Order: sequence, then structure tokens, then C-alpha cells
Amino acid sequence: MSRWIPVALISECPEGECIERIVEGRVIALAHTLNGWYAIDGVCAHQGGPLGNGTLCQTLLTCPWHGWQFDVATGQNRLSSAVRQQVWEVRQDDEQVYVDFGEYPEG
Ligand code: FES
Repeated sequence: MSRWIPVALISECPEGECIERIVEGRVIALAHTLNGWYAIDGVCAHQGGPLGNGTLCQTLLTCPWHGWQFDVATGQNRLSSAVRQQVWEVRQDDEQVYVDFGEYPEG
């Protein structure tokens, strides 16, 4: 089941940039690419760096701490097939960006 949560105004994240958002206790990196929006776990799998403050080049996001790179469309680490960040679906309306966090957690 979808559960769309507003995470940002479109104007807060111009095309080609990435921003960090904390939503329901999750840190996400919201990326605005030429091909659209992507949301990826914002805590880097290496040592917890802030991916939302990273550098975006098309769909390749580079962590600002030590340079690990992830495809924001899939969450896949560029060098290791064993490392993948969680991703969520994103949509927008006229001014707002939404992320689908799915079902509420149990409990
Ligand atoms: S914490 Fe992201 S590359 Fe090290």
C-alpha cells in the first residue's frame, strides 16, 4: 500500500541538486535529476556520511565524506554489488515532492 508523504517543495531542490530530509525518523537524500526525482537512504553505508549533502552528477551521487558513489535510481553502490541503499518512489505535483514510504511500520 502506498503512503505518500510530502518531503520538500520543488523550489527547495533545483534540477541537478540533492538535499537531505528527515522524515518520520528516516534520513533521506532527495535527488532532482534531469530524468526526475529519486529518494535514497541518506545515511551512507560506508560510515554514515550524509548522502543528501553529496554531489549529484546525473543519477550518480557521491558521498561527501570519502567519495563512495551510489546510483540514486537503484541505490546500488558503483563499485560493490554487495552494497545497496534503500530507495523509495517519488512523485511531484505543481509545487510539492512526495515520497512513498509504504506501509506503516509494525507496532
Ligand atoms: S561515509 Fe560515505 S563514503 Fe565514507
